Amino acid sequence: MPDVAFRPFAWSDVPAITAIYRPYVEETVITFETETPSETEMAERFGKLKALGHPLIVAERAGEVLGYAYASFYRPRAAYRFTCEDSIYLRQDTVGQGIGGRLLDELMAQSRAAGFKQMIAVITAERANSVRLHEKAGFRHVGRYEAVGYKFDRWLDIVHLQKGL
Ligand SMILES: CC(C)(COP(=O)(O)OP(=O)(O)OC[C@H]1O[C@@H](n2cnc3c(N)ncnc32)[C@H](O)[C@@H]1OP(=O)(O)O)[C@@H](O)C(=O)NCCC(=O)NCCS
Repeated sequence: MPDVAFRPFAWSDVPAITAIYRPYVEETVITFETETPSETEMAERFGKLKALGHPLIVAERAGEVLGYAYASFYRPRAAYRFTCEDSIYLRQDTVGQGIGGRLLDELMAQSRAAGFKQMIAVITAERANSVRLHEKAGFRHVGRYEAVGYKFDRWLDIVHLQKGL
């Protein structure tokens, strides 16, 4: 089987990316969104990131989109402009194969090249694999916020992990 390749986001990826994100919105507490964005909405979001020159990476194997990753401003105010937040989503049948770690490495390299100095991961506290993924990449725990999310009838904590790029 061909190996996973990383390439920049293209507009034709929007349907696959929307489909990858949908089950995480509808079935998990990984994202705090509760309504699945449409393809139009996803195209707008990615368009804005692209226009800002932020890294937008697609993982592909044999022409199939397996996942995606991007860096966005951690917060919108200008003094935060050297600090990004990472987002990584793999197609559900491809988790646990080590693709996430390689995608994060690539995202860190591209974020550094784009001028970001710090990367912050904002993770639902109970998501051990995502925490582990970032720890392995050298992120350190910098904080926990309690009961800041409410989804599927329960309160959720988040953790922040940080790495200098
Ligand atoms: C999080 C995600 C990107 C990780 O990528 P991945 O390729 O699936 O990574 P892996 O499954 O290999 O797991 C990474 C590490 O977590 C460990 N892990 C997996 N499940 C675990 C669990 N329940 N408890 C503790 N560690 C766990 C793995 O063993 C691995 O560590 P190791 O290499 O030391 O063994 C991917 O699972 C994903 O897309 N998940 C859904 C979306 C998401 O959570 N995105 C992150 C938002 S920032």
